[in-house]
Amino acid sequence: MTCALLFHYDGDNGETEDAMRRTLATVAPDIEFRVWPDIGDRRDIVYVAVWNPPAELFLSLPALEAVFALSAGVDRLLENPALPASVPLIRLEDAGMADFMAEYVLYGVLHAHRRMPTFAVAAQAREWAHGVSVPEAASCRIGILGAGVLGQHVARRLVLNGYPVQCWSRGPRSLPPGVSSVHGADALLTMATNSDVLVCLLPLTDSTRGILDRQLFEAMPKDGFVINAARGAHLVDDDLLAAVQSGHLSGALLDVMHEEPASPSHPFWAETRIVTTPHIAAPSPPRASAEQACAALVALRRGDTPPGRVDRASGY
Ligand code: NAP
Ligand code: GLV
Repeated sequence: MTCALLFHYDGDNGETEDAMRRTLATVAPDIEFRVWPDIGDRRDIVYVAVWNPPAELFLSLPALEAVFALSAGVDRLLENPALPASVPLIRLEDAGMADFMAEYVLYGVLHAHRRMPTFAVAAQAREWAHGVSVPEAASCRIGILGAGVLGQHVARRLVLNGYPVQCWSRGPRSLPPGVSSVHGADALLTMATNSDVLVCLLPLTDSTRGILDRQLFEAMPKDGFVINAARGAHLVDDDLLAAVQSGHLSGALLDVMHEEPASPSHPFWAETRIVTTPHIAAPSPPRASAEQACAALVALRRGDTPPGRVDRASGY
């Protein structure tokens, strides 16, 4: 009987496909590598490895045993009604993304702490904003929503740069030295009150959708700044715009949007204090991603549970 892995990667320039093909041939030479949409006989597909697959990819795969997400987030996959509920779903953990994310967030924190939104507005008006004061790093408090693989790595980097950091999670977490732990829904607003910069690194689930909203922004100190590098649907766009335009928040750095690519008419484009980037904070490095997905496949075949197994009930 033929055993095949079906690969799909939205926006790949061929690098991830090559890495996956080569790694699979090394660790499991008996598995055929097929690339969507050249699926062949659907009954041969035992494994699927994907980023942003079309909904129909999962239809009628009777032999499917595991799905490998070539990403850290699995929200889009879990929304797919054709994804069988009983099949193990394995996501990437770090695979080189954590360093990228730490750089991105450090950039955003420096942007906020060194008052770049204020200088950008002044520059537009051709004003020399010499009197604007810049606090020390030690008094710029960072709150990270999410204390997982990425949240903890980002926290470590910010601590090294002299920032006081708290991370928020569902349950209590032991965190890297110098990082305070905050947990539970009841602690969220207090954390926001104590965060000059709030960073979202949460998975998108029913409990976290729309979490970056007016109530949270109002709880933040005046001139607070928001960084969203998780998913666009965490943010209530109108609430952010209102908080920035009223002068309560100093600005935001957003890597993700509700609709990607963002529509040319989206109001964020016209707001100097809101900087957007096109979902580039932490791309999945092709080789490390392929190696991690293939190592997980080998572990499953051995009967082990690989790291990165998604808990369907919690949605991450
Ligand atoms: P992870 O390891 O699963 O960590 C998730 C963290 O969020 C955990 O600490 C978890 O709490 C916490 N959490 C989940 N639901 C919560 C809730 N309702 N209340 C409080 N805390 C909650 O995920 P990760 O690998 O760090 O990735 C995080 C997200 O980053 C991904 O899901 C993806 O959407 C996004 N991402 C974006 C990019 C990009 O380029 N922009 C790249 C990679 C990933 P517990 O510790 O209590 O479980
Ligand atoms: C990217 O957004 C990811 O979830 O890996």
